[in-house]
Amino acid sequence: MNRRQFLGAAASLGVGAAMNPYVSRASGLKVGANDKIHVGLIGANGMGFSDLSAFLNNPEVECTAICDVDQNVLARRAAETEKIQGRKVANLYADWRHLIDNKNVDVVIVGTPDHWHCLQEVAACQAGKDVYCEKPLGHSIEECNVMVRAAQKYNRVVQVGQWQRSDPHWQDAVDFVRSGKLGKIRTVRVFSYQGWCPSIPVQPDCAAPEGVDYDMWLGPAAKRPFNPNRFHFTFRWFWDYAGGLMTDWGVHLLDYALYGMDVTTPKSIMATGGKYGYPDDACETPDLLQTIYDFGDFTVLWDHAIGINDGAYGRTHGVAFVGENGTLVVDRGGWEVIPENVNGKQRMEAVPLHEAYGGGGLNLHVKNHLDCIKRRDRNCNASIEIGSHICKFSELGNIAYKTGKRLSWDGTSFHDAEADAYLCAPYRAPWELPKI
Ligand SMILES: NC(=O)c1ccc[n+]([C@@H]2O[C@H](COP(=O)([O-])OP(=O)(O)OC[C@H]3O[C@@H](n4cnc5c(N)ncnc54)[C@H](O)[C@@H]3O)[C@@H](O)[C@H]2O)c1
Repeated sequence: MNRRQFLGAAASLGVGAAMNPYVSRASGLKVGANDKIHVGLIGANGMGFSDLSAFLNNPEVECTAICDVDQNVLARRAAETEKIQGRKVANLYADWRHLIDNKNVDVVIVGTPDHWHCLQEVAACQAGKDVYCEKPLGHSIEECNVMVRAAQKYNRVVQVGQWQRSDPHWQDAVDFVRSGKLGKIRTVRVFSYQGWCPSIPVQPDCAAPEGVDYDMWLGPAAKRPFNPNRFHFTFRWFWDYAGGLMTDWGVHLLDYALYGMDVTTPKSIMATGGKYGYPDDACETPDLLQTIYDFGDFTVLWDHAIGINDGAYGRTHGVAFVGENGTLVVDRGGWEVIPENVNGKQRMEAVPLHEAYGGGGLNLHVKNHLDCIKRRDRNCNASIEIGSHICKFSELGNIAYKTGKRLSWDGTSFHDAEADAYLCAPYRAPWELPKI
């Protein structure tokens, strides 16, 4: 049995069981595998290449293929990869389907814009590859469902790019929250203030840059002429391709709110905001948004702004568990507890800042994926079940914003025709939502 047959067979023996996204962490039997793991990257401009670089920090990894619809990106990243691994990347593609067909790719990194994740993750699973898929997992609630079914059906080990799940200080913060020392927690304030993000001015449509297959960039999204705003990086501010900050940062931070509180489904969701900072710029998604998820005896508040840095507690982003004895605040830099002081009486000891440690969340996250691949354990730190749950949870916020309604959600439906119409993103032919 060669290594690839072993990977496939072991997976099918393994871990089909349903997982509660908020109790499980990777654990289990360790099976060593000393062979090379061949990685292929789809979407190389930004985070996809950061992911690949983290994979290449591990001596057993070799990059055998890169695909990008932008030949300029492809050439640049191929040269950089060759420099890192001391060996040419064997296969460079403009069409991602060739990378999926390549038998010399074991693991596919999906680093494309959100509207492509579903088609590429499902195709990779069907081809028997493991997947490192960037967050947010999908571009609609139904895509998330399909993606989970594909990973389960084909028994693939999928890690979602929520790398804070592997950063140990976040876990320490959750352990403290769950200790009960904060007293009853009444609200979890989750905030992302992105002062560095510029407003993007309206620009006219124009010809796509030379070497760019824009139709393949658009893929299942609506056909339209090229516009520089609707391209690298800034695509995230347009509904056709992404969900704005609500899903972009929401999946990272809201995930820890739910994990800390050990909950999954809110009783109701409402949201308000808009283009209050830059009403005339090109972005479609709101530059200011507040979403309230009501869990019956506490709330989770999502609060975001673009162009302002002062979120809360002197931080640009974070998750604050507001308890009756004190508030625990955690962000990418560390965590601390600020005690409640009521009528001159301090209700608990302050906990000074515990700084992030461990060597970097992304490296640890990729290492966790590789370890899970070797022991055929689908229960990665950010398994597809975790990624799907939080992506859907963040989507609820955008749907509440778009409808302007207080919505309730039973896990599959809002029982509201206007809101339910957002469960599925439209697909442009010949692309279709995969059927699994
Ligand atoms: N985990 C994190 O911390 C983190 C950080 C940033 C971005 N992301 C996620 O990574 C994804 C990419 O974001 P980005 O900022 O790197 O975007 P980007 O625009 O910089 O890069 C995307 C790349 O995908 C390529 N591409 C688009 N369609 C393609 C196709 N059909 N086939 C092959 N290549 C294609 C583009 O040409 C581009 O090079 C997004 O889903 C984003 O949310 C995650």
